[in-house]
Amino acid sequence: MQMIELGRTGQQVSRMALGAMQMGGRTDERDSVHILDRYLEAGGSFIDTANCYEWWRRPGSLGGQSEELLGRWLRDGNRREQVFLATKGSAVPRFSNDLWTADGTANWELARRTFEGAGAETLRDALDGSLRRLGVDHVDLYYVHVDDRATPLEETLEALDGFVKAGKVRFLGWSNVRTWRLERIRQLCARNGWTLPVAVQQQHSYLRPAASSDSVSIVDGEQLDYLGEHDDQTLVAYSPILKGIYDSAAKREGHAMMGDYAGPDADARLAVLAEVAAESGVTPNQLVLAWLMHQGSPRVLPLIGPRTPEQFEDALPALDVKLSDEQLRRLDGAGA
Ligand SMILES: NC(=O)c1ccc[n+]([C@@H]2O[C@H](COP(=O)([O-])OP(=O)(O)OC[C@H]3O[C@@H](n4cnc5c(N)ncnc54)[C@H](OP(=O)(O)O)[C@@H]3O)[C@@H](O)[C@H]2O)c1
Repeated sequence: MQMIELGRTGQQVSRMALGAMQMGGRTDERDSVHILDRYLEAGGSFIDTANCYEWWRRPGSLGGQSEELLGRWLRDGNRREQVFLATKGSAVPRFSNDLWTADGTANWELARRTFEGAGAETLRDALDGSLRRLGVDHVDLYYVHVDDRATPLEETLEALDGFVKAGKVRFLGWSNVRTWRLERIRQLCARNGWTLPVAVQQQHSYLRPAASSDSVSIVDGEQLDYLGEHDDQTLVAYSPILKGIYDSAAKREGHAMMGDYAGPDADARLAVLAEVAAESGVTPNQLVLAWLMHQGSPRVLPLIGPRTPEQFEDALPALDVKLSDEQLRRLDGAGA
């Protein structure tokens, strides 16, 4: 697998990152280990998790299963040195039985209101918990999972900088964050000599958010422009295939992911995507991954989340797709 530089750090990471969010939850241990092994075999190195994964799948749980599974896998095969390991803190909700409804589904509205946030002490405890579950003395990348506007940024940044100085974290990142906050973070880091985050993890795909979408999590035109101008921060694109909606009109129909995208612009882009996918001999999902990896400004590092070994194998051909300038122009230009 090709490698790319993370920000302007000199650190090389694999071109496609692997998300472990569902591992230990919807994906059982055997399939998870299979996917992780195959990812390393394919030359991958960049593995992503979070302390909260996946509290919402199991009533009574506050997460940790993904990190624990990764910890066992890293230990069993002595694999720590082969992996660029990323985790996150700040998005564990305060425990309440009301986090799950009677049928076991998560109450996200309550969860978002009660996230633990990015206070210094909270992050210190969260990071120590992650290191313990992962069975490592440091992680390579530590993200603020959900930007926390109730805590002074200075407090969060100074705490994160302390983690780097203590050797518990090598690089920093931020997720689910507005562009103006990225700029304020940049200024505070410069003024105080604190470590600048080098990864920005946002939802980003081929479809563009509809005008009615106002999500802190989805990259918009302004954020693309900002990150294009600041290549010391790499855009790590989560949900790059929007949970697999590109290959199936039936799956798109009523899928929660489409809420932020549906409309004439999406229809026009899906049509061109299907056209270019057919002429390239790949599926639309694969083409979206390839298109993301062809982006130059900003560079985009897709973070895939296969639930099954088959879905993981299905992502690999995207690494070999070469799009012509003409195809890229058509894909980029499509829209209402
Ligand atoms: N920072 C954040 O807030 C945040 C949020 C979300 C995710 N993440 C990270 O990003 C990673 C990836 O996110 P994601 O899981 O949302 O990404 P994704 O790859 O867009 O979605 C994963 C889902 O896509 C479907 N899928 C995958 N491969 C497929 C294929 N070949 N054909 C058809 N469907 C396919 C599966 O859906 P079905 O289960 O329906 O089959 C799978 O569960 C996560 O593991 C996590 O590490 C971060």
